[in-house]
Amino acid sequence: MSTAAKQRIAQLRTKIEQHNHRYYVLDDPSIPDAEFDKLFRELQTLEAQHPELLTADSPTQRVGGKVLDGFAPVRHAVPMLSIRTETDISDQGAIAFDARVRKELGKPDAIIEYACELKFDGLAISLRYENGILVQAATRGDGETGEDVTQNVRTIHQIPLRLKDCEVPVLEVRGEAYMSRPDFDRYNEGQRTRGLSTLVNPRNGAAGSIRQLDPTIAAQRPLSFFAYALIENPDPSKEFIWEKYFEGQAHLESQGNILQKLKSLGFPVADETRIVHGAEGLVGFHQHIAQIRNSLPFDIDGVVYKVNSLALQAQLGFVSREPRWAVAHKFPAEEQMTVVRDIDIQVGRTGKLTPVAKLEPVFVGGTTVSNATLHNEDETRRKDVRIGDTVIVRRAGDVIPEVVGVVLDPSIPQGERKEEGRFDLFKRLHGKCPVCGSAIVREEGEANWRCTGGLFCPAQRKEALLHFASRRALDIEGMGEKLVEQLVEQQLVHTPADLYRLDLPTLANLERMGEKSANNLLEAITRSRQTTLARFIYALGIRNVGEATAKDFARHFGTLDNLMAADETRLQQVSDVGPVVAQSITAFLAEPHNLEVIAQLRASGVNWAEHEGERVEMLPLSGKIFVLTGALSMNRDEAKERLEKLGAKVSGSVSKKTDYVVAGAEAGSKLAKAHELNVTVLDEQQFTQLLKEQESA
Ligand code: IVH
Repeated sequence: MSTAAKQRIAQLRTKIEQHNHRYYVLDDPSIPDAEFDKLFRELQTLEAQHPELLTADSPTQRVGGKVLDGFAPVRHAVPMLSIRTETDISDQGAIAFDARVRKELGKPDAIIEYACELKFDGLAISLRYENGILVQAATRGDGETGEDVTQNVRTIHQIPLRLKDCEVPVLEVRGEAYMSRPDFDRYNEGQRTRGLSTLVNPRNGAAGSIRQLDPTIAAQRPLSFFAYALIENPDPSKEFIWEKYFEGQAHLESQGNILQKLKSLGFPVADETRIVHGAEGLVGFHQHIAQIRNSLPFDIDGVVYKVNSLALQAQLGFVSREPRWAVAHKFPAEEQMTVVRDIDIQVGRTGKLTPVAKLEPVFVGGTTVSNATLHNEDETRRKDVRIGDTVIVRRAGDVIPEVVGVVLDPSIPQGERKEEGRFDLFKRLHGKCPVCGSAIVREEGEANWRCTGGLFCPAQRKEALLHFASRRALDIEGMGEKLVEQLVEQQLVHTPADLYRLDLPTLANLERMGEKSANNLLEAITRSRQTTLARFIYALGIRNVGEATAKDFARHFGTLDNLMAADETRLQQVSDVGPVVAQSITAFLAEPHNLEVIAQLRASGVNWAEHEGERVEMLPLSGKIFVLTGALSMNRDEAKERLEKLGAKVSGSVSKKTDYVVAGAEAGSKLAKAHELNVTVLDEQQFTQLLKEQESA
């Protein structure tokens, strides 16, 4: 056996684990991925050449091993406890816990120190290290006996296979294995593109991965880990006695120290952990975490309060299997099961048709939910949600409740769910908008069906009116949501043109509207008649035509008639306008209702200065698109301004439509793209030359 190989292997393992820790735990890699891969491959090669040197704690062994028949039982050296849940989810839960602790300690007036942690929503795992090497990982099971899931847990990169500076012969580390939200989304996205089954939620993803008999499958599901408990030298030979447990750990003194120690051993510990004092501190922590809950990249179902001092923990002891010194204070659950009574289809602001599940009302995320979005037809079909199904509903924070997935009754064979029963939006609506009866369409590459009714569709009217009156459109001050609602519901306004027919008595008669505000509103409506072509185009609320595009059209065509007469080819001659936008315009103008509204608006005096665009059309660089890249000695803003004065447009990315790329020093990918697309490239000197020539032209 070569001692050189042995030494190099040991060196590589240490290095790789250090980089692993920096990458997965500290999120602060110090070498590029390629460099890491090189070290990893070198180790793999050496281990292949010297199989006698291969050990289970080698980082190469994280990728899975043999497929198992089942999991062997593991008797926990120290039972894995459950934790009492505070039933009152309001601040009272924290106050009641603190009161109980003080009473049981016989110190009614003391201010107790607590370690506050997150309650992770994953799977509890106990890790056993002997002489610093991970030898076993087990699930909680019934608390006394769990299952040996060592192979799968080794695939979790955040869990060290070997501990840094561990002087304790036997160490058990406990914590939660979980799947982060970004990893969950990425995993499902990948599965979807491959046409494979997706995970319902991160919790199920974590549990399914840990309890997966084929470790190569487990390795593909990205899991993470948070440590929250540590036991030094547990003695499994005797009947377990809690008093002894505290003796063994006494030198650690506090839960805060335990978390510090876990961190220094290389385990991930949640940043949100806090040491606080008294009930007030607990309440503050609970409120803070409730607020940031939805911005955390992983799911939690509450917080955990632990009396910080281990001496006080020992004094408090246990009731049956639960410690008196810790409690879980939950948040309202974000996911619940319920039954789908019906599937409705709602019409949104731009005519988008959204399938919505009508649910058996259920308390979730702090409110009673009876509607949950199914997003669109494809999502509904993918999740295969049907009327009568039991589903999981999620409501996280202020996000609209959604159906996460179906819980299939295992007694019903999959085959019973026939393909014909699958959700079909077009069939359900007989091809018509449920509100206005106009035809519905789903364009290629689009996820959504849409009503083609436009301003004619009452469902779209309110949104269209609000958009029309908004600040960047015709800017009718005071035309808010409540008012628009009344105007539409009382059938006073059908289209934006009707706004210009409103009179004082009508307005003054509306709810919450006095003579004075009615007058102000009427004045604002009058003022809005004088506008610009760009604002008018934007105000029409044409799909895919935002403010910038509306400005481009106004500049290019100069008059509304020119724009209305343009076909798709001519529309696409406008810079930045592609087939999608062009198609949106022609579809909008093909609708007789829309033409009528435009005519009425003009008839009611809405006007703007026409031909404003022609000036631009005649400028020396009209229609030319420039991209500036690399370091230019001229100020970027100045370059842009001078180009725009000459009628050119400055864009951020290079495409086939780009006319010139101005490349300064150290130009990179944009310059390469320009060469690739055969776009004319100017250096700075040529560029300033061009500016000077055109400016004097
Ligand atoms: S401590 C003595 N801390 O909650 C207390 N548990 O019943 C032992 N859990 O499934 C547990 N986050 O996996 C503790 N910060 C945390 C926790 C936590 C989640 C889970 C644990 C177990 C349950 C406890």
